[in-house]
Amino acid sequence: MSTNNYKESARLLERAKKVLAGGVSSEFRKYNHPHAIFYTHGKGSRIYDVDGNDYLDFTLSQGPLILGHSHPEVLDAVNTYSEQGQIFAGQHIREIELAEKINEIIPSAELMRFCLDGSEAVQTAFRIARAKTGKQKFLRFEGHYHGWMDNVCWAISAPSAEALGSREMPEVFPWSQGLSQLVKDDFITLPWNDLELVKQTIAARHTEIAAIITEPVMCNSGCILPEAGFLAGLRTICDQYNIALIFDEVITGFRLSLGGAQHYFNITPDLSVFAKAMGSGYPISAIVGKREWLNLLETGQVIHAGTMNSGNPTVAAALATIQVLQRENPYRRMFDLGQQLMAGLRNAAEKTGHKLLVQGPGPMFTIAFTDLAKAKDFRDTLTFDKAKLGRFIAAMHDLKVRIIGRGLWYISSVHTQEDIDFAIAAAEKVLAEMATAQ
Ligand SMILES: Cc1ncc(COP(=O)(O)O)c(C=O)c1O
Repeated sequence: MSTNNYKESARLLERAKKVLAGGVSSEFRKYNHPHAIFYTHGKGSRIYDVDGNDYLDFTLSQGPLILGHSHPEVLDAVNTYSEQGQIFAGQHIREIELAEKINEIIPSAELMRFCLDGSEAVQTAFRIARAKTGKQKFLRFEGHYHGWMDNVCWAISAPSAEALGSREMPEVFPWSQGLSQLVKDDFITLPWNDLELVKQTIAARHTEIAAIITEPVMCNSGCILPEAGFLAGLRTICDQYNIALIFDEVITGFRLSLGGAQHYFNITPDLSVFAKAMGSGYPISAIVGKREWLNLLETGQVIHAGTMNSGNPTVAAALATIQVLQRENPYRRMFDLGQQLMAGLRNAAEKTGHKLLVQGPGPMFTIAFTDLAKAKDFRDTLTFDKAKLGRFIAAMHDLKVRIIGRGLWYISSVHTQEDIDFAIAAAEKVLAEMATAQ
């Protein structure tokens, strides 16, 4: 497809760049093919752009659209409750209903607070962990994304695997200029999925460490499942040394199961963070946890605030989303369709002579061009052939299949068997063309 097919987006991008920095409102939106694209609307598993192209959407807006675009029950709830007012600087009954629902379905959610996005909920979790343990640092893992705030905007990019140096004392690279250098003292970083290394580090430094934060499935660098016993091992270590175990469930929440990764893996963290799929695209997140941790908010010892928190329409969107998920229980189907798509992609690569790693549980998974049979941590993902992945994703986009630029695919409750078959056929075509072009 020629760039002619994106002419109107290109024109709007030039106009946007005069007033919006880079033409976008979030860094990731710059990196579309062949440039930032402007969309008109979305419906179900499809999204439509200003040039009249329609795409089968596996980005789901970076994860939130678990019920697909414009789910009627979500839109109805938002419209209905908007008419009753936007936000009250006070309480409303649906907030209790949402909290009661989350308390019913998420194992660790004895108490909670609502915020607007994952990034700020993560910071609230750190604050609670510091206050309760009296310690300052958190331990995090290479390649895990916990938002874009200063103290977590590290260790998610690196020039190469070698540049990271020793596994015991990894080099950490900032993702942005302008970060406070002071926050480098806030955290210790280790490679993921290496329980022995965590044990050694904590044994030596537990008096400094308030929390261990992890994505329960590493979805932001590859889509890597925890090794058997890894999450349970973290749980034991945290219990032993008075450390908060924080699950960052911004991606896994409402996606791996209704009760999140903590229900799926049967490991209960002290604190966890939910966002993305919780609100079907409306700005709502939650910091949830055991009462003995969250009660610091109850007493006011720890402050959490926000003018825009828990507005009528956002809470209504989250309630409607969770009600649909609970009623329809689409998880089995999402796993089935995702795994079918994964198998189809592996098969297409094999037929066309490409080494393609397809990895993840199904409702989300990643693809990478690599000789590795399995990626186990961030260091492995840094060896992937990113240029080749870029060519694949661009060619898929031209065939109307939209995938996140780093090779991540999300399945929604409204993707169909035909959607999966269409995506596999497109991939087969693209991979065959790439093989002849090599
Ligand atoms: C695991 C994880 N944590 C935190 C965040 C930050 O969430 P938000 O973009 O809502 O601030 C993200 C965003 O992609 C994420 O994937």
